[in-house]
Amino acid sequence: MRMVVIGLGYLGATHAACMAELGHDVLGIEIIAEKRELLAKGEVPFYEPGLPELLERHIQTGKLAVSGSYQEAAEFADVFFIAVGTPQKKGEYSADLRYVDAAIDELVPLLKRDALILGKSTVPVGTAQRLAERVAELRPDIQVEVAWNPEFLREGFAVKDTLHPDRLVLGVFSGGTAEQVVRDVYEAILNEGTPLIVTDPPSSELVKTSANAFLATKISFINAIAEVCDAAGADIKAIADAIGYDARIGRKFLNAGLGFGGGCLPKDIRAFMARAGELGAAEALSFLREVDNVNMRRRTRMVELAREVCGGSLLGSRVAVLGSAFKPESDDVRDSPALNVAGQMQLQGASVTVYDPKAMENSRRIFPTLDYAASALEACVDADAVMILTEWNEFISLDPARVAAVTRKNVVIDGRMCLNQTEWVRHGWVYRV
Ligand code: UGA
Repeated sequence: MRMVVIGLGYLGATHAACMAELGHDVLGIEIIAEKRELLAKGEVPFYEPGLPELLERHIQTGKLAVSGSYQEAAEFADVFFIAVGTPQKKGEYSADLRYVDAAIDELVPLLKRDALILGKSTVPVGTAQRLAERVAELRPDIQVEVAWNPEFLREGFAVKDTLHPDRLVLGVFSGGTAEQVVRDVYEAILNEGTPLIVTDPPSSELVKTSANAFLATKISFINAIAEVCDAAGADIKAIADAIGYDARIGRKFLNAGLGFGGGCLPKDIRAFMARAGELGAAEALSFLREVDNVNMRRRTRMVELAREVCGGSLLGSRVAVLGSAFKPESDDVRDSPALNVAGQMQLQGASVTVYDPKAMENSRRIFPTLDYAASALEACVDADAVMILTEWNEFISLDPARVAAVTRKNVVIDGRMCLNQTEWVRHGWVYRV
């Protein structure tokens, strides 16, 4: 099938390449020329394991092409996926829908025939309805159906999550063709037994926001218990393991530590609260404010812990920060807890040296004043404290003896509770979480 994917960021580039992998003919539309040029050469402008290979292969087979022209898009196909970003508005909690609106306003006037627009971006409930009305207003002469098909991929596992998702969700208005088209698009995935939940557009929008709100809540729940553990002298890891064996609870997303960041969970829970407020249901989601508060307290607490191990003041201390991406297997530093902590410590007078296996360039761009090292060991030279703030395997497998040979003091703060504590303590380290 021929299809267009509008917006080639994390979501769109992955979706476009994966649709080509499923055998479709895909045209990706990206308005940023620099990004487009890289993608057209088969290069991915961010780190996502497995994606460069897929993209390059399908650029070469001709199954995937990249363009900046909506005119070309309108001529190419009758099925359009919207995969543009919906960031948090500056100074507000709500989602900024300008890119979604722009995609509709650019594309729809150019359409030649009846068409189906499938939204993938994470949007506030009610957006599909609003867009359907806008589309009908723009083109009363043809049938342009709008449906929502939210995406649940995780960065770092984006290709796998797109080709082998847990479930597919589709929100349709009655009387359209969207369900049949979607069944054809995802035929190979459905043949693996993947469930397809067909519902109405507002429910499909809420599936996505609820899923992210639940995940954020799970992380903040365990971090709230971690706060109690600190006060009571209890072991949060043992608690997570023990409650995680209950199948109703599950062990996943119960890793306590520095908390959640990234381009999705933080802004999605805020946009969800804002939307509930607009709908007069603010009270229903008031607990998400606490989820956000618990999460932000993790960052403050990490800075306090660093100050404590540095003798009560960070002024003049040297701190090695290992990890700046918001999670491992990603170079994404959007709302990264690690970089946030690094920045706060520097503001309090510490000399902070950062190393991350993949996120150095992105980190430098947003925090040019921090020091950056070429390796984990180099970052640790003369350090008064070593902080593991993203749980990359490279850090989990660090040799505590080798690190101890270069630091000034042997104090390690395991911000992601990922190190082998016994091993580090055996090599003379003071281990703190
Ligand atoms: C998240 C969701 O997991 C995806 O299902 C969703 O599709 C995506 O947002 C999105 O809306 O596009 P992602 O942002 O890639 O995916 O990252 P996660 O794996 O969810 O991790 C988010 C943050 O939570 C990271 O900072 C991670 O370090 C933190 N985390 C995760 C914890 O602190 N503890 C845990 O136990 C798990």
